[in-house]
Amino acid sequence: MTVTVRAALANWHISTSAHSEFLIFALLMQSVKKEIVMSGIRPTGFLHLGNYFGALRNFVRMQDEYPCFFMLADLHSLTTHPDTSQLKTNIHRVLAEHLACGLDPDKSALYCQSHVYETSELYLYLSTLSMVGELEKTPTFKDKVRQHPQNVNAGLLTYPVLQAADILLHRAKLVPVGKDQEQHLEMARNIVVRFHHRYSEVFPEPVAFNYGGELIKVPSLDGAGKMSKSENQYATLYLSDPDDLIRKKVMKAKTDTGPTAPNSPKPDYIENLFLLMKLVSAPDTLQKFEEDYNACTIRYGDMKKQLAEDMVRFIAPIREKAEAIQQDTEYLKKVMIQGAEKARSSAQATMKVVREAMGLNYY
Ligand code: TYM
Repeated sequence: MTVTVRAALANWHISTSAHSEFLIFALLMQSVKKEIVMSGIRPTGFLHLGNYFGALRNFVRMQDEYPCFFMLADLHSLTTHPDTSQLKTNIHRVLAEHLACGLDPDKSALYCQSHVYETSELYLYLSTLSMVGELEKTPTFKDKVRQHPQNVNAGLLTYPVLQAADILLHRAKLVPVGKDQEQHLEMARNIVVRFHHRYSEVFPEPVAFNYGGELIKVPSLDGAGKMSKSENQYATLYLSDPDDLIRKKVMKAKTDTGPTAPNSPKPDYIENLFLLMKLVSAPDTLQKFEEDYNACTIRYGDMKKQLAEDMVRFIAPIREKAEAIQQDTEYLKKVMIQGAEKARSSAQATMKVVREAMGLNYY
C-alpha cells in the first residue's frame, strides 16, 4: 500500500521524505477508516521462534495493509532486567532481527519505546485508571513475583499499564501478539472503558490480532510451556542459533516409544513436535509423519532429523541477514531516528487530544 502511495505522489510530482510519506500514508489510511496497528517486543534477549510466529510474521504482512507502529519495549525490559550492560547489544540485535525478518522502516514506524517520551506521560494518566487489585491478579505479575522474589518492583505491577500506554498512544486497534498477551489486551480495554466513562471517547478498544484468527503459542521443545527468552534456553530455538545448535536442540526434544494403537491421541510433547513441523516444513512432509503416526509406524528419530533440517533452512537465512545488518550501526541509528520521529508525531497528536479530554488545558 505504501508503494501505491509513493507511486501516486511521484505521479503528482510531489517529492517526499520517507517520514512524510509514512504520515501521508497514515492519514490516508485513517481517512478510509483503516485501523492502526501497534505491537512491541522486549529486548531482554535475542528473538526466538515464538516471537517470530506469534508476532513478527504478522508484522511483516500488516505493514503492507495498515499504518503500523512496531516498538522495541526497552522500558518494559527494565522491570525484570535492571542491569542495562547488555541492553545496547540486545537493541541492535533485535532491531536487526526485525529488519532481517522483512520489516521495512519506510513502510512502518520501527522505534524504541524510550525514544518516545510521551509514553511516560500517558502511562501516568492511565495508572490513575488502573486498579491495584486487578493488577495484582495478573498471571504474568504472579509469575514474575515467583521468578524474582527479590525484585518485586512497582514497574512490574504496572507493566500492563505501560503496555496500554504504548498501544493507546497511537490510538491503535489491532495488536498482533501471541496467546500469552491476551490478558494484557483485556486490561488495556478495561482502561479504555474507564477513560471513556470518566472523561470522553478518545481511543478504540484494542484487540489481539492474528491473521489465522486464533492466537498462537509456540511450544517449547521440552514439552513444558512455551518458547521463551528467559526460561529453559535449551528448549527454545533462537533466530540467532547456529545450525548445529538447532540440530542438537531438536534432536533432544522429548519423545517416547511411539503409539501402540492406530489413530491414538497424541501426548502434548508429541503434539508440540507436529505443531513445530507445521510451522516450518512442507505440507506433504507433515502429512507423511501424520500418516506414519496414525499407522503406528512413526520413527521419531527420522521425524526430528527432518524437523531439524527444516528448522535450519528456516532460521539460517534470517540469522545470516541479521548478523550482517547488526554490523551496520550507522544504518541502525538511522532506522531508530526515523522510527522515533514517526512515533513521536503520532504520540504528540494523541496526547493533545488526551490532555483536552482530561481537562488539562488551562489556556
Ligand atoms: P515479549 O517480548 O514477551 O514477546 C514479544 C511477542 O512475541 C510473542 N511470543 C510468543 N508467541 C507465540 N509463542 C510463544 N512461545 C511466544 N513467546 C512470545 C508475544 O506474545 C509477543 O507478541 N508485553 C510484551 C511487549 C509489549 C507489547 C506492547 C506488545 C510492550 N508493549 C504493546 C504489544 C503491544 C511482551 O512482553 O512481549
